[in-house]
Amino acid sequence: MAQKEDVFKKIVSHCKEYGFVFPSSELYDGLGAVYDYGQMGVELKNNIKRYWWEAMTLLHSNIVGIDSAVFMHPTIWKASGHVDAFNDPLIDNRDSKKRYRADVLIEDEIAKIDDKINAEVEKAAKRFGESFDEAMFRQTNARVLERQAKRDELHSRFEKAMNANDLDELKQIILDYEIVDPISGTKNWTDVRQFNLMFKTQMGSSSDNTMDVYLRPETAQGIFVNFLNVQKTGRMRIPFGIAQIGKAFRNEIVARQFIFRMREFEQMEMQFFVRPGEELEWFNKWKETRLAWHKALGMGDEKYRFHDHEKLAHYANAATDIEFQMPFGFKEVEGIHSRTNFDLSQHEKFSGKKVQYFDPELNQSYTPFVIETSIGVDRMFLSVMCSSFEENETRVVLHLPKPLAPVKCAILPLVKKDGMPEKAMEIMQALKYDFACQYDEKDSVGKRYRRQDAIGTPYCITVDGQTLEDNTVTLRDRDTMEQTRVAIDELPAIIGRECSLNSLLKKLEA
Ligand code: GAP
Repeated sequence: MAQKEDVFKKIVSHCKEYGFVFPSSELYDGLGAVYDYGQMGVELKNNIKRYWWEAMTLLHSNIVGIDSAVFMHPTIWKASGHVDAFNDPLIDNRDSKKRYRADVLIEDEIAKIDDKINAEVEKAAKRFGESFDEAMFRQTNARVLERQAKRDELHSRFEKAMNANDLDELKQIILDYEIVDPISGTKNWTDVRQFNLMFKTQMGSSSDNTMDVYLRPETAQGIFVNFLNVQKTGRMRIPFGIAQIGKAFRNEIVARQFIFRMREFEQMEMQFFVRPGEELEWFNKWKETRLAWHKALGMGDEKYRFHDHEKLAHYANAATDIEFQMPFGFKEVEGIHSRTNFDLSQHEKFSGKKVQYFDPELNQSYTPFVIETSIGVDRMFLSVMCSSFEENETRVVLHLPKPLAPVKCAILPLVKKDGMPEKAMEIMQALKYDFACQYDEKDSVGKRYRRQDAIGTPYCITVDGQTLEDNTVTLRDRDTMEQTRVAIDELPAIIGRECSLNSLLKKLEA
């Protein structure tokens, strides 16, 4: 466990050192859970977004995109349920003056018991060696059974309290299980209160015509309120989808794990409108389509799993998360939800305007049902960084999926003389329209390879004496470190085959 935490720390500092992610407002000591993307990070992030956007809009002729405003009429958030129900239960410690999510404190306590059980099992496995029967040990060892019983009781009380929205019981659990503030070490807790996660601000210039507005906590509502606009102007026929990429804002109480939980983040959401009754079939199709999108990146099929929701929001009739194995465990990267006709019906009710679709094949009007796919750009970014980072005795390398790499190739003259820089610039000039390239002539070629490895550049092209004679270069592969001699004319085809987004998109269609 300690080792995994170390790796994660290394990834966070690597992100900063090589211009991927900086803490926001660092000059002023930072701003909690807000981050800036640097010169490398923005390219990686844009490539992730382009991969998602093109997989949605180019590969599906019935999906179109929009870009709606962050500010929306405040009644939209009443209709969507966010004003009344987009809450987290918070609790303060009077000694440390720190604020926590009550549910997270309890979840951490459950995780601690799990860790103790696992440590017990690991210890026994070492002691018994080959003959160890884990299932039997878990069923019979007195200490494990005692801990498991405590964990199950805690879990069941917690689940009941959360389902019933019982804030008093959440506090009682914290007291009964003697959960202490990790900073002050005390149990001096306030009552648990509901805390709405939406940021509120004011629109308007004079004091008598200002209106409270919210920074959107999800991009989805911008799609729902434009359903009719897009359907009519785009002459869309059900089934069809609307995709959007944009910023979302949540005043998270506990912001943890770097860019995993931020207060300002980006979402890529697609709402797919279908006939009532056909939603579960589409839900299953979208589950598979989205998992295939992730797997095509080649980061390891075993690193993904579905987590089906047992407890559904009142408006959903199916929901699952695609989880990715981060260094801190399997975590949600994307949610796929069958949202019934809840959102469109609510907007019809609150706006007083008809929000329905006339189905020419059925010759009837209805409120479409919706399947939503919703993925966080930043979490996707984090999963890519975590699965790509490798540190060994000789180098630190990012094995980024090649089409996502910020720089696709580096062009390196072996020495800064004998016409090599000029030849290298000539190659750069030919490649730069199709691929993000970097020219580097400083330091030894070995050091330059290391610099490119650290930012995940798939190919280094080295120009040497032979290049000037026969127009060949050495092409070094980031992952294998193998160098092959290839003709300059072959470079676009080789790099394109491995690094273009098209090649990735074609995998999805195969
Ligand atoms: N429209 C549905 C919706 O917003 P969600 O599960 O709350 O659903 C969808 O969010 C995705 O947005 C998550 O799977 C996650 O990737 C990302 N996300 C949510 N909150 C986030 C946060 N505070 N920081 C970074 N990403 C977040």
